[in-house]
Amino acid sequence: MHELRDRVAVVTGAGRGIGASIAAALADEGVHVVVADIDRQAAEATAATISQKAGPDGVRCVGAGCDVGDLGAVDALADLSWGEFGHVDIVVNNAGIFPPAGPAVDIQEHDARWVIEINLFGVWHGCSVFGKRFVEQGTPAHIVNTGSEHSLGVPHTGAALYTASKHAILGFSDVLRRELPDFVGVSVLCPGMVATDLPNSGLRRPQRFGGPFERGRPAPQPGLAPDEIGRRTVEGIKRGDFYILTHPPVVELAEERWTEVATAFAEQAPRFDGDEALDTRAFIRSYQAGPPRP
Ligand SMILES: NC(=O)c1ccc[n+]([C@@H]2O[C@H](COP(=O)([O-])OP(=O)(O)OC[C@H]3O[C@@H](n4cnc5c(N)ncnc54)[C@H](O)[C@@H]3O)[C@@H](O)[C@H]2O)c1
Repeated sequence: MHELRDRVAVVTGAGRGIGASIAAALADEGVHVVVADIDRQAAEATAATISQKAGPDGVRCVGAGCDVGDLGAVDALADLSWGEFGHVDIVVNNAGIFPPAGPAVDIQEHDARWVIEINLFGVWHGCSVFGKRFVEQGTPAHIVNTGSEHSLGVPHTGAALYTASKHAILGFSDVLRRELPDFVGVSVLCPGMVATDLPNSGLRRPQRFGGPFERGRPAPQPGLAPDEIGRRTVEGIKRGDFYILTHPPVVELAEERWTEVATAFAEQAPRFDGDEALDTRAFIRSYQAGPPRP
């Protein structure tokens, strides 16, 4: 999607942090934006800041409350967005939370559900609701799903289900890009650490997962400035990149995963004469590609 001017984007979790920076970077390119967040006030404040910067003749930006863990709420967000602008061309499924840290075996069930329902189901909700409408609309569109360095095989000890949720986003997005028609692009945004309020996700934990709590960690956490992530995301959308990458040193951590896998293959299941009987590559390739795309 080379030209972004006058497109319409919906960005979730955009009341602050990475989402707010993506919304602002899109607006700088002439994109009208729906800023969505479970924290409606924050969404409206971000939308007001962007609108003010754009001026009366610039892009339109509206704030909306939306809990991405609720499929009906995401559907209502899509209704609001199409109602407001007549079309939507980009969705950034960015909303995500970081649950209390601790050993995997000690994770409380409500926190397990919180992290999976927001970080993974929230992304699926956005892809399903907006993806179907993009196909129906029949014009160039783009979906960005916010993963992280953990999508690329970097484990975060003390955050097993956060790591799993981000890993899952890569797998999900990789399938999605093969299933959607060519005119709907898919990206997975994989930042390393970014200076945001993520450690204080608990302040906005919904009642159904135990309600808000104070984590007491200083915020923002150390890391890259969120603005840089917004800029890189816009570049990735324009180029149609599947992987949107931001922190160069992460490649070394990601390589460790593949080196470990390759070493295990070499030790336990190296290629040998006659191993064609075990060769399922043609079959795997066929379901990797899937049926002809619509
Ligand atoms: N900060 C980092 O180091 C980092 C690194 C890699 C990936 N990420 C990912 O980036 C995304 C944004 O995180 P951030 O760092 O900007 O954190 P943040 O806490 O500053 O912003 C997240 C926003 O999402 C909103 N949100 C929380 N639950 C929601 C829900 N159920 N529905 C809608 N909105 C909800 C919050 O109100 C908040 O405004 C997340 O998916 C996070 O996992 C963050």
